[in-house]
Amino acid sequence: MTADAVVVGAGVVGLAVAEELARAGHRVVVLERDRVGETCAAAAAAGMLAPAAEADATPQVTTQLALESHRMYPDWVARLEDVSGTPVGFDRSGTLVVALDADDLRELVHLERAQQRFGLRTQRLSASEARALQPSLGPSVVGGLLLADDWQVDPRRLLEALRRCVERSGGRVVEGAPVEALRRQNGTWRVQVRGGEEAAARLVVVAAGAWSPSVLPPGVLRPPVRPVRGVVLRLGAGLEAGCVVRTPRVYVVPRSWGETVVGATVEERGWAREALAGGVYELLRESRRALPCVDEMPLREVAVGFRPAIRDNVPAVGPVDGEGTLFVATGHYRKGVELAPLTAVMVRQLVEGAGHPLAGCVDPRRFAEA
Ligand code: GLY
Repeated sequence: MTADAVVVGAGVVGLAVAEELARAGHRVVVLERDRVGETCAAAAAAGMLAPAAEADATPQVTTQLALESHRMYPDWVARLEDVSGTPVGFDRSGTLVVALDADDLRELVHLERAQQRFGLRTQRLSASEARALQPSLGPSVVGGLLLADDWQVDPRRLLEALRRCVERSGGRVVEGAPVEALRRQNGTWRVQVRGGEEAAARLVVVAAGAWSPSVLPPGVLRPPVRPVRGVVLRLGAGLEAGCVVRTPRVYVVPRSWGETVVGATVEERGWAREALAGGVYELLRESRRALPCVDEMPLREVAVGFRPAIRDNVPAVGPVDGEGTLFVATGHYRKGVELAPLTAVMVRQLVEGAGHPLAGCVDPRRFAEA
């Protein structure tokens, strides 16, 4: 396989980068270790596009990146749906953050202040105002915030749409292709695939989420990415209204086609894949406190994902070799789905030598030894 660019990893970031490069005329091959939508973080994710709801728990620079990417989302999604013919469940019904007691109300005050610092739309609601917007809310809700500009998308449908768009633009997505070694030879990257054909390209983008460090060859910069596990539940019924419901401990994301996603645990357990009963119990307990109807919903799936986290909670996007032919796009932690369109454009502009005004914020060279 010869290409202009090999992208390692067909998660939401890898496919978004591949789609952007392929659309710009680069010959792209994506190497995915498993199957698209099987083990990447986005396959488990709820798909909240939530710069406002997470404004107090996110580094300022990451919120700035998220806001930039958020602005790109409506056009990005419209193009992907148009080209792929796959609806991706982009829903702009907004988000309700609700308080269940006086402590929660105090947290909402902090959150509201963080949102105001970024100039984000936020509206304080009484319990009855919140209930008017989401009639499924239970009696323990004592107040809330309406975040009209926090949206959602279905990451599984988005992955499928992206894959189709890559292919329609002439790119190739190869599944079951774990990368065993990356070697530079006579100005070309040779990408050795376990049990498969070698790929050769001028350029490689490693977008393998939490697995990215294991793909990088010796002698290049290695951003300190680690897996942070998230357990997410999928329930087999929707809610009365489409808006996302959050409390300081849980989020509940209803889909218009009769599914509700409840998330998520945040666990430092390395690569352990098995969900624990305690985490599942907490998600169910906290979601039913806000939305008692959760009790009656069929439990369809317990999904586990590994968020790619870096200690400063800022992604690493940019070159990791001296020549600018090996790039990473990883470390998006809780915001991979949100940051995908911005990351894609950033990588394309960097590989084309044009630079990007926000590239300095995410430069992997911040981890170079002094
Ligand atoms: N983006 C939400 C999460 O990672 O749980």
